[in-house]
Amino acid sequence: MQGAMVRNTGWPDPGHSNLHEGKTSVIVFPLAECLECQQTVESEDQLDEQSLSLEDEIDLESDFQEIVGNNTRLKAVLDNVRIVAPADSSVLILGETGTGKELIARAIHDLSPRKNYPFVKVNCAAIPSGLLESELFGHEKGAFTGAIAQKIGRFELANRGTLFLDEVGDIPPELQPKLLRVLQEQEFERLGSTRTQRVDVRVVAATNADLANMVAEKKFRADLYYRLNVFPIAVPALRERRDDIEHLVGHFARKYAKRMGKRITRVPRATMQALVRYTWPGNVRELQNLMERAVLLSSGTSLRVPLTDIVTECDLGAPPDGNVLEQAERELILRALRESNWVVGGTRGAAARLRLNRTGLAYKIKKFGISRPL
Ligand SMILES: Nc1ncnc2c1ncn2[C@@H]1O[C@H](COP(=O)(O)OP(=O)(O)OP(=O)(O)O)[C@@H](O)[C@H]1O
Ligand SMILES: [Mg+2]
Repeated sequence: MQGAMVRNTGWPDPGHSNLHEGKTSVIVFPLAECLECQQTVESEDQLDEQSLSLEDEIDLESDFQEIVGNNTRLKAVLDNVRIVAPADSSVLILGETGTGKELIARAIHDLSPRKNYPFVKVNCAAIPSGLLESELFGHEKGAFTGAIAQKIGRFELANRGTLFLDEVGDIPPELQPKLLRVLQEQEFERLGSTRTQRVDVRVVAATNADLANMVAEKKFRADLYYRLNVFPIAVPALRERRDDIEHLVGHFARKYAKRMGKRITRVPRATMQALVRYTWPGNVRELQNLMERAVLLSSGTSLRVPLTDIVTECDLGAPPDGNVLEQAERELILRALRESNWVVGGTRGAAARLRLNRTGLAYKIKKFGISRPL
């Protein structure tokens, strides 16, 4: 079992009293302390605020040092991690952006017999497709123009450990047979070499793309998909586990307050309600970033969250005489813009998500008077 640290999120949680019943393997609520906090509020205007305890984390038993959450679906994910970690099977982690896929991949490695060997990550979307082959498999000096020295690829670097193939859906079709071979045979050749390299690597892959659909559309090889999909783990979106939002707010508020040398002890109830209601298209990463901004903006002991960053689509104001279809179109555009972090063009931009061209989307953004919230 791993070194054990369980996060004490320190939130009083009258709405979820069932969560306080004793310890769980993931998270613990110090109910007595919380009630005490509530009873000692000093002034009237503090009564509508929730108290955040900035007690240090307490050491308790847990397999998961970094993963905060108590939601049933998240716990089912962690149960699956425990089951698959000791085996050598490939794992495919599915989930929207920012849901914690990389955290899960690391947890699998840390709970596996390979934990004392490297965990090597490759983001297949971040490396230009022409360079990905050499990044994964390495090359010999002179293998191609610019190959001025021999390079060891990530598969070799991960030998005896785990290779995390992030955004595996972005592996170009011409590279997919070579990946399949290394998964099946644990062997490959460096670019420019005929010598076969043997490795002992466990592959954990992740994607937020619909790989099954990509297979149907012949954009991803079926045999590679089945080889990767031996043990799929689907990480739920944050809006599907809203009961974890308070825990995560507490966790990140405390983390950033500590880092910035601030003392933040409470959050207005209305703020917390808005945070719980929001849809979080960027999931935990979006919440984490918002909490960092919030702690930066807070000058007193109450957490000041810039709620304009997370106003709902309706709050942004629909055009006064827009019809129902136009409003729906406007909301789809807003969602795509949020999910792409307000990037319009490019393969990951909102236009691509909506299957529109860039100018077409720019026209609609102007037409609907959409602007990025401050
Ligand atoms: N349950 C959680 N508890 C604490 N932190 C979390 C949790 N889930 C995610 N995070 C944090 O949120 C951020 C995003 O997580 P991660 O990088 O694992 O997501 P991802 O699914 O791989 O995202 P992407 O698809 O964009 O690569 C990280 O900083 C991670 O530490
Ligand atoms: Mg990731």
